[in-house]
Formats: sequence, C-alpha cells, structure tokens
Amino acid sequence: MIENHGLAAVEAGSGAEALTILRQNGELPLCISDIYMPEMDGVTFLREALRLYPDMAVIMLTGVAEVTTAVECLKLGALDYISKPVVLEEVRARVDKALEKRELVLQNRYYQQNLESRVRELDRRNKQSLINGVQTLVHALEAKDAYTRGHSARVSKYAVKTAVQLGYSGERLEQIRLGGELHDIGKIGTREDLLHKLGPLSPEEFEHIKGHTALGEKILAPFLSESPVVLRIVRLHHERMDGAGFPDALLGSQIPQEARIVAVVDAFDAMTTSRAYRATRTPSEAVDELRRCAGTQFDAEVVDAFLRAFSDVSALPISI
Ligand SMILES: [Fe+2]
Repeated sequence: MIENHGLAAVEAGSGAEALTILRQNGELPLCISDIYMPEMDGVTFLREALRLYPDMAVIMLTGVAEVTTAVECLKLGALDYISKPVVLEEVRARVDKALEKRELVLQNRYYQQNLESRVRELDRRNKQSLINGVQTLVHALEAKDAYTRGHSARVSKYAVKTAVQLGYSGERLEQIRLGGELHDIGKIGTREDLLHKLGPLSPEEFEHIKGHTALGEKILAPFLSESPVVLRIVRLHHERMDGAGFPDALLGSQIPQEARIVAVVDAFDAMTTSRAYRATRTPSEAVDELRRCAGTQFDAEVVDAFLRAFSDVSALPISI
C-alpha cells in the first residue's frame, strides 16, 4: 500500500529487526509500528527508535482495546495512531499528514538554528545599506564642492588619531571616524556661490553658511538614529569653548568631546589646505594658532592630544 502510494518502504518482522534496519540504514522519515509484537512491544520500540532518531515520524497501529496505550505512545513522541482494522484510505491520509508534520518540525528547527545567523546577516545588510546611503550623500556633496572630498577624509584621519591619544577605541572611535567623514554634509544645502566665495561674507551669508551644521544633523538623522554621537559631531563641530560658536553657543564641557575633537582638526585642516576663501598657512603657523586659541576657541586638552598624535609637523598636512 505504501509503495502504491509512491513511497519506498522497508519491512521488518519485529521491533528488534526494525531497530537493526534503522541503525544500519540511518533515519527514515516515517515508521509505522504495531503495538503488540513478539520479542519487543511497540512502546519499547518507539522509545528506542526515537532515542536513535528524535525527528522520525512514528505512527502506531492499535487495536480497539489499546487506546490507552496509543495515548501513551503519543506522549512518548509518536506523531499519530491508527486504529485497527485499518482502512487503506485513512492510512494514506495519515501517512501524508505525518510526513507533512515532520517536514514542518524539521523546517522549524532549521529556522530556529539559523535564526541567529540570519539576524546577523540582516544586521550586516542593514549596516551596508546605511553605509551606501551615507556614501550617496557624501558623493552628492563632493559633486557640489570638490574641496570637501579631501577635507572630510583628512579631518576623519586627524580626528581618529587625536581620539586615540584621548583613550578612544572600538565603537567610540568608529563614531569619530564617521563623524569626521560626515561633519560638513549639511553643505549639500549651502548655496554654491557662497561655498566658493572669495570676498568677505555679509552677515546674512554667514548665517546661511552656519546652517550647514543643523542641516547636516537633520539630513543624517534618519540614517544614524543609532549613532547619536555622529549626529552631535555634525551639529556641534563649530561650537567654541568660550560659548561663541554655533549653532547652539554651547559652553566648554557642554560640547561633547567628540565634537571638540573634530572642531580642532577641522580648523587645522582648513588652515593648512587651500580653500577658496582663506589663505593657506604653514602647518607650524597653524599649530601656533591652535595653541593660541586653546581654551577660548578650542579645547586645550584636545589640542595637546592632536599635537601628541602629530608631533612631526613636517609630515603635515597628511596625504590621503
Ligand atoms: Fe563645518
């Protein structure tokens, strides 16, 4: 009957023989077993078979008087039981059902076992699409302002090395790296004629340029909701220790240290590379300027850390 149903079948004359076959052949998807058998009864066989292969589907054949035993078998892990005398149509239906059930159990197990790695994979893909999104923004800004490209990369490098001097590592350092990379992203919204303006800026024009800090935070917020430090760097990299910075005019320790780090290295890079609206200074002139403004514009501790990280002034500015 089983073979006519399209399945391969192996027969055993007793429970002991069935166990031998199972040990030799390995797990079979489904096993149909009588309860009353010579040598080994069906309950014992069931225990042994499931000990060997816990995922095997077992259907017990029971006489009318054996309902209690059948229920016992279900408790032990049999998937189903069929009462004798058997109706072939019913056996086919129960066999199909049992095989389906087993398949489900196996799938479930597979999903459970793989859940962790699937979550990790998903996490990795999420991070990748986040990086792709951020990269798109960076390219958009670079297309508008070629200077930004090298600037952002250098600021990021300077910031990371300075942060290491201040004890940063791991994820905190990663945030500094990203914050340095993205600090000026808000300039996507800055008028092009002002980005490249040579002469002095009117108060209104300066106000417009200042807006790149808050705008950058706003642009990045949907991408970086889990990286608040990066958002703070972007918003607060033009704050000053004396409270004369923008956009929030924070004072001293109110400014997150990460933003204070980027403020110092941002200024250093702006001074030592040619930019449309500012004359280039030599690295040692720029270092003097950092020292002069330590405590007022810049965090003195950060300036010291920067100077420790780049003690060889002749190697500055770094190349990317
Ligand atoms: Fe900026």
